[in-house]
Amino acid sequence: MIAEEISAAAAILRGVTRVVALTGAGVSAESGVPTFRGAGGLWEGQPVQEVATPQAFAADPVRVWRFYEERRRRLTRVAPNPAHRVLARWQDRFPSFTLVTQNVDRLHHAAGSREVLELHGSIWEIRCSSCGRSREDRTVPLPALPPVCASCGGTERPGVVWFGEYLPPGVMDAATEATQRCEVLVVVGTSAVVYPAAGLVEIAASGGAKVIEVNPDASAKAHLAEVNLRGPAGELLPNVDALLEGA
Ligand code: APR
Repeated sequence: MIAEEISAAAAILRGVTRVVALTGAGVSAESGVPTFRGAGGLWEGQPVQEVATPQAFAADPVRVWRFYEERRRRLTRVAPNPAHRVLARWQDRFPSFTLVTQNVDRLHHAAGSREVLELHGSIWEIRCSSCGRSREDRTVPLPALPPVCASCGGTERPGVVWFGEYLPPGVMDAATEATQRCEVLVVVGTSAVVYPAAGLVEIAASGGAKVIEVNPDASAKAHLAEVNLRGPAGELLPNVDALLEGA
């Protein structure tokens, strides 16, 4: 019974001090942002190495930019959903709350989360592939593709992390540190197959933290969860939050 799982999740979270939430594409699914894997996923029918790798960008920057332009265009029409809003409220509910996301859509910020560890960067950042200068730019569409760096004339790229690239310096360290110290890790809407993000679930479990998963389907790390909330995050997280509120 899902009601029992919701109560079990709330019981785990009640009174704890240090909580980490790890989110993936599924937390934005109910906002209308497609996930990557599975039926209807963004990568379906399109080999990821043709759009989400440094090699693909080197070979054809305009093709890669067109893919990201389309995603940026769609994101201008979406808004945070109740799952994002609950996670924004939790920054004030728990004495220590760290939000770690693999998403590049900035919907957690839009919901009011003040500090977000963005493991895979942001689609609203544009970075020069020559001098590394980074800038936020929400212009859609961009006036020219590929955009060119105003400082050095180099080709600019989306400020996201591609397959085979390092994560932004310091961000993974901060996420790992918080996960090692947490009492509860809430894993929301990720298939947990992409590393190093997926490794955070192992770090939490091996450090003795309790893991709660929120996902309509079992992720690759579901076996490490004490409670599996099977269903959409935009419905289930508000249910858990309501029990905490009433406590
Ligand atoms: N609520 C919660 N979870 C959901 C919902 C929902 N409403 N809808 C779908 N999901 C789940 C799916 O069951 C799936 O497990 O969200 C997960 C999405 O998985 P992926 O598409 O693999 O996304 P993610 O885990 O974020 O991918 C990780 O891979 O492609 C790269 O860099 C990209 O950050 C991304 C990374």
